[in-house]
Amino acid sequence: MLIAGIETSCDDTSVALFESESRTILVNETFSQSSIHSKFGGVVPEVASRNHLLKLPPLFKNSLEIAGVSVKDIDLIAVTSAPGLIGALLVGTSFAKGLAFILDKPVFPTHHLAGHILSAELTNLALKPPYTALVASGGHTHIYKVSEPLKFELMGRTVDDAAGETFDKAAKALGGSYPGGPFIESAAAGGDYQKVRLPIAMRNSPNFSFSGLKTAVLNEVSKNIFGIEDIAASLQYTIAETLSEKVLRTAKENGDSRVVMAGGVAANSAVRWRLSALAAEAGITVYYPEIKLCGDNAAMIAYAAYRLIGSKDLSLYKRLDFKAGDTMHEIPV
Ligand code: KG4
Ligand code: ZN
Repeated sequence: MLIAGIETSCDDTSVALFESESRTILVNETFSQSSIHSKFGGVVPEVASRNHLLKLPPLFKNSLEIAGVSVKDIDLIAVTSAPGLIGALLVGTSFAKGLAFILDKPVFPTHHLAGHILSAELTNLALKPPYTALVASGGHTHIYKVSEPLKFELMGRTVDDAAGETFDKAAKALGGSYPGGPFIESAAAGGDYQKVRLPIAMRNSPNFSFSGLKTAVLNEVSKNIFGIEDIAASLQYTIAETLSEKVLRTAKENGDSRVVMAGGVAANSAVRWRLSALAAEAGITVYYPEIKLCGDNAAMIAYAAYRLIGSKDLSLYKRLDFKAGDTMHEIPV
């Protein structure tokens, strides 16, 4: 089955073509709007929607050409329909519905977080639940117990900012570009994480709070004692420690010997290194998506739709009466 994936939930416009029998990503093309939003210091929702509208059609056409397939070969359209910026979701879902109507093909409104979590299974095809999953991105920092395939039970979440958002806001305070994660990661490489002490909030809870950490970084910047590199190194270390401690403790409580970490922050090598090292001490193995599947992309959406549909009859999805915000598989957030 050839699945076209469409992702427009935030500031990445992405199209993928995924062949399900061979589990092959034929193409996964992403137009990142980060340089457009960079001058605003973060994502501006209306600007994101307008750029999805501009970029999605040519990206789709180009993806077909790269994969060497005809639009008529598509068996299913998978589109991110929630959660995300509503205007951005409207562009992707409208495009997907138009395509489904013209081609008379099914369309599956797909949950973005299922895409992130299942991207670890797409990278590690032998990986199966049970496992404990951490999604750390610009919009989410959520821990799930995945006790059986496609059953996602919320165990912990941020009560304020997300981990990626904290990287983004701290980078802005340190004079860096958007998105902040890659900026902090490269600045941190030249710093000493032990010089600046930053707080870990709600230490004994499975929930996260990052807003105090953001304020502590702002305070360090205004004190002007330490350099950007040292503050960046300490921030990265503190976030790595926070994420690792909480997901590993939750995994132990769940009785899981496997942990999945996904989302844009999973691209951070210091976070991966720290989580995998602490997990190894606890006899836990951590699985990540390959780096190019960590951030928002349409291949994870095509794969998630394939998994969420399972053996159900595709004709069930030949309906266009869903809204941006509706999904076929609810995941608590
Ligand atoms: O998953 P994603 O692409 O989009 C959302 O669903 O939000 O995640 C984007 C987030 C941004 O906050 C970005 O700063 C962060 O992931 N990120 C990173 C790195 N690369 C992206 N954070 C830390 N280190 C990185 N290397
Ligand atoms: Zn995402």
